[in-house]
Amino acid sequence: MEFTKATKGLNGSLSVPGDKSISHRAVMLGSIARGTTEIHHFLQGADCLSTISCFRRMGIEIENRGDVVLVHGKGMRGLSAPSGMLDCGNSGTTMRLMSGILAAQPFSSTLTGDASIRKRPMKRIMDPLSQMGAKISSIHDNGCAPLRVRSSRLHGIHYNSPVASAQVKSSVLLAGLYAEGATSVTEPALSRNHTELMLRYFGAQVTSRDTTASVEPAEELYGAKVEVPGDISSAAYFIAAALMVPGSEVFIRNVGINPTRDGIIRVCQAMGADLTLENVRSQGAEPTADLLVRYSSLKGIEIGGAIIPTLIDELPVIAAMACMAQGQTIIRDAAELKVKESNRIRIMVENLAAMGADITETEDGMVIQGGRPLHGAEIDSHLDHRIAMTFAVAALTADGVTKIKDADCVRISYPGFYQDLSRLQEG
Ligand code: S3P
Repeated sequence: MEFTKATKGLNGSLSVPGDKSISHRAVMLGSIARGTTEIHHFLQGADCLSTISCFRRMGIEIENRGDVVLVHGKGMRGLSAPSGMLDCGNSGTTMRLMSGILAAQPFSSTLTGDASIRKRPMKRIMDPLSQMGAKISSIHDNGCAPLRVRSSRLHGIHYNSPVASAQVKSSVLLAGLYAEGATSVTEPALSRNHTELMLRYFGAQVTSRDTTASVEPAEELYGAKVEVPGDISSAAYFIAAALMVPGSEVFIRNVGINPTRDGIIRVCQAMGADLTLENVRSQGAEPTADLLVRYSSLKGIEIGGAIIPTLIDELPVIAAMACMAQGQTIIRDAAELKVKESNRIRIMVENLAAMGADITETEDGMVIQGGRPLHGAEIDSHLDHRIAMTFAVAALTADGVTKIKDADCVRISYPGFYQDLSRLQEG
């Protein structure tokens, strides 16, 4: 797909699709809860559809009516043995969180997915789940999917996670619902807490203190109505586009601003962005706001430490913004980027350098000298949705034509992305 420089500012308002993390969790918890869970503003991206199809294969009736999804949960012990493999597609959240639930079921299961997910590390969930008594193994013995999960009894543990990962934390907490005794997870920095919030909302006993979350075994969870906020990770592309293209003013309605996800807002403000939050409110267990963003001249900053997990998926687009900023931006403590849908440090550096940016790869991040004009180039998305969206935005500031390979991979998290972006350009 081809993109060219914006000829004028982006203008108008939009609401972005529902939050991906929250959509996944609503289907999973709805499936093991009693009664119907009504999910509004559900993200119809390929990742969340993978979660729906896995739970359908385990006997859960799920009505997908578009914006509303009804999950007819059968209770904590209501899943049935799937007839074949559970296909998680491209979705790490589906595979890692579902493993925690499957470890405690009275049947065996096999989880697989696409070529990207079969290369991603699964030992990070296999280790703590095994400590709880789970029988989970990598079929090719390489620490990756396909994973085989066999039935077993679980006991609670305290797990000190070496990584700040919501997928690891959630996998262990979900297994903990079925374990004997309490289960807790301590992480090096606080990762997104949607699982803890939604578990509590569905009736589980969950406590959180500093970077430790604990869950008690649950007899039953209860289906609930979930209003999914707009995904801040999707809003990030429009925030960046508005800040980077002169003359822009964009209003994004109903964005989730959970403090474990709002690092992008804090970073933009530190870079000098004209970005304001309006109508701050709460939607069920999650805080939301409308965002008003205007073109701003940005300055480089240093990003590292505890803020990293709160903006981990936004680092590619932050790197693109840093190219437009005056001065140096240093991103550190972000080694986790190497094990996402692609190696996002390597791929960002290669692609931004191809567009003329002054950018250097480091062990755990990158260093960018901003202020060099970008030019169009051939960009390989490596089938990574966040890379494709980042370069569609970067292209708006680049002279000439930017060609993005496999640009349609945005269907993973934002099927209507290009339409929304071009509507704001016409606005
Ligand atoms: C997610 C957690 C993060 C994030 C991913 C979604 C989740 O991954 O990058 O896009 O829904 O729990 P990690 O847990 O690997 O950090």
